[in-house]
Amino acid sequence: MPTSDKYGLMTTRDAEILEYCLDVVITHKEFKCWKERAVLEIGVHTGGTALGIKKYLEAHNLGINYWGIENSQEGQIHKLWNGAHVIYGDSLYVADKAPFGFQLTLIDGCHCLTHVVMDFLQYAPLSHPGGIILIHDCHPECQGAYQNHDGFSRKEIGVNVRKAVDLLGLRVDHPMVELLIEGWSLDPKDKWGGLIGFIKK
Ligand SMILES: C[S@@+](CC[C@H](N)C(=O)[O-])C[C@H]1O[C@@H](n2cnc3c(N)ncnc32)[C@H](O)[C@@H]1O
Ligand SMILES: [Zn+2]
Repeated sequence: MPTSDKYGLMTTRDAEILEYCLDVVITHKEFKCWKERAVLEIGVHTGGTALGIKKYLEAHNLGINYWGIENSQEGQIHKLWNGAHVIYGDSLYVADKAPFGFQLTLIDGCHCLTHVVMDFLQYAPLSHPGGIILIHDCHPECQGAYQNHDGFSRKEIGVNVRKAVDLLGLRVDHPMVELLIEGWSLDPKDKWGGLIGFIKK
C-alpha cells in the first residue's frame, strides 16, 4: 500500500492533512513565540511519523518535545533521538505518566472501539487549549479490518475508529473539542489511513 515517504504509515493524503495541522499549531497566536511544540503520539511503531514531524518542525526553526506511547506488541525497535520520551505500555494504563500541554496529539495505537474511546477520553484532556488532536485510520473502507490485539485477531476488536468518534459525539457540539478537518485518500489503492482532527477548546 502506498505510504508517504515522510511520515511512517501515513498515506500521501494523510501527510497533507498532518502538515496542515502542523501549520495550524506552528502559526497559532499563543504558541507563535514558543521555541518548540509538544507532541504526543499514541502508537510509535518504528518512529517514522515521529521523525517526520520532528523534521517538519525543524524546517520551521522549531524544536520538538516528543512523547510517544507504545506497547511494542509487535516487537518493533524504536530508534528515536536523544530527548524523545517513550512510555512503554498499553495506552489504557499509562496516561498518568504523560504530562499536560500538547500542541499536537496523534491517536494511532490500537484501533479497536475501547482503545480509541479511552485514548480520546484520557489523552485529549492533556492537549493544550488551541492544540490539535488527530485520530488516524478513519477511512470508511478500513472500518472492521482485522488487527493484532494482544495476540488475538477478531472482528469485534478490529478497526472501529468511526464508531468511536460517533460514540464520543465528536462531530456535534462537544464541550472539549471542535472538528477541524477530516479526510482520506480517494485513490482506490489506499483503503486505509485517513485523519480526523479536532481543536481543543
Ligand atoms: C498503526 S501503528 C502506528 C504508526 C505510527 N503512528 C506511524 O505513523 O508511523 C500502531 C502502533 O501502535 C502500537 N499499539 C497497538 N496497541 C497499542 C496499545 N494498546 N498501547 C500502545 N501502543 C499500541 C502497535 O504496537 C504499533 O506500533
Ligand atoms: Zn484495542
